Amino acid sequence: MDAVKIIERKRDGATLDPGEIQWFIKQYSRGAIPDYQAAALAMAIYFQGMSPEETVELTLAMVHSGDTLDLAPLGKRIVDKHSTGGVGDKTTLVVSPLVAALGLTVAKMSGRGLGFSGGTLDKLESIPGYRTGLTADGFLRVARQASIAVVGQTAELVPADGKLYALRDVTGTVPSLPLIASSIMSKKIAGGAHAMVLDVKVGRGAFMETLDQARELAQRMIAIGQGLDRAVTAVLSDMNQPLGRAIGNSLEVIEAIETLKGRGPQELVEHCLAVATEMVLLGREGGTPQAVRAELAAALESGRALECFARWIAAQGGDARVVDDYALLPASPVQLDLPAQGGYLAELDARAVAMVTVDLGAGRHVKEDPIDHGVGIVLHAAVGDYVTPGAPLLTIHAASDAQATAASRALEGAARWTPSAVRRPPVVLEILRDPSVNA
Ligand code: URA
Repeated sequence: MDAVKIIERKRDGATLDPGEIQWFIKQYSRGAIPDYQAAALAMAIYFQGMSPEETVELTLAMVHSGDTLDLAPLGKRIVDKHSTGGVGDKTTLVVSPLVAALGLTVAKMSGRGLGFSGGTLDKLESIPGYRTGLTADGFLRVARQASIAVVGQTAELVPADGKLYALRDVTGTVPSLPLIASSIMSKKIAGGAHAMVLDVKVGRGAFMETLDQARELAQRMIAIGQGLDRAVTAVLSDMNQPLGRAIGNSLEVIEAIETLKGRGPQELVEHCLAVATEMVLLGREGGTPQAVRAELAAALESGRALECFARWIAAQGGDARVVDDYALLPASPVQLDLPAQGGYLAELDARAVAMVTVDLGAGRHVKEDPIDHGVGIVLHAAVGDYVTPGAPLLTIHAASDAQATAASRALEGAARWTPSAVRRPPVVLEILRDPSVNA
């Protein structure tokens, strides 16, 4: 085979054969095809797209570039959950114990934050002692013992995606539907999931800024799942404003625990119940969405989900006393309120809030940046709320006065106000289910 011919064929709009795709990915991951040829193919795919069949082949080729995890020893159908990346997204911390309370086992790999979007691992590492780097045996042991294990991805899992994603990041080829879909799905399949709920974020704080783009991405991933015998449900959810009120690692852990205590913000509770319902529908036989949702709400109200959270944290070495004592979590020394112009909050730019939070130290500009787990932002209002002029719109948690002042200045234009009432936007925009799901 010849890399140049494959690039030219895709450039000219041909459909690549399975053999060509497998060969190219294999040679690229073992270093036999240079980055410049892989970048040329990524750009050709960006412009010409890929058929559903080609996208399935690309996904499989990436899966086979490294190890795959076998979750069969857990003896259950394992349903994974993946967010395409958002701001204030602590959903995994809430939905994992929620679905575990209904008998599911969650055994998943999560990522770190990069750029404007946060990462579940960074949030979990705010909890003293929590270990994200378990061996494969340790991972299965924790999942068996606590019904939940959330760890970091190993370097051996989907190495082709690791290389290709880094290359796409610097060659303007990230926003390609087949490339995003195969990148996400290859990681989920290599991670051993039997079925998955994809939380596809839409809006200012997401990769997909329009509902049409998000729908197309979701349909692509459902089609890949069908091609590889994995049931996929996509929840399309709003990411124009941050999810919940806390953005920043330990602040988000506190909000997740508060949510499990029944005191979470309404839109976060709504979102978590929707995602958890879809996970349960995929993970066990029978049940209507309404009945499952009622069971989940009962698990939340009774405190069973909170108990599952504490058991999970302890099983991964974390200090489960954080559930009752937030002072055990890292905190920042400076807190500064940003006063509201006042009126009805019409918009709160999730991307702007996220970038300020990253600058405070809650996220990374480059992979090597250290994380400050205590810093972040707590919002006191969501879109649709009325705020009295001069009352705090948000509180900045910073490491120094200078940082807090810089953050406050950077956030001045993030909110838009109107004198008349504004509709509260729905958090769940659409749910797309694989037709084979019996619900
Ligand atoms: N998330 C991924 O894992 N891959 C992409 O290409 C985009 C988002």
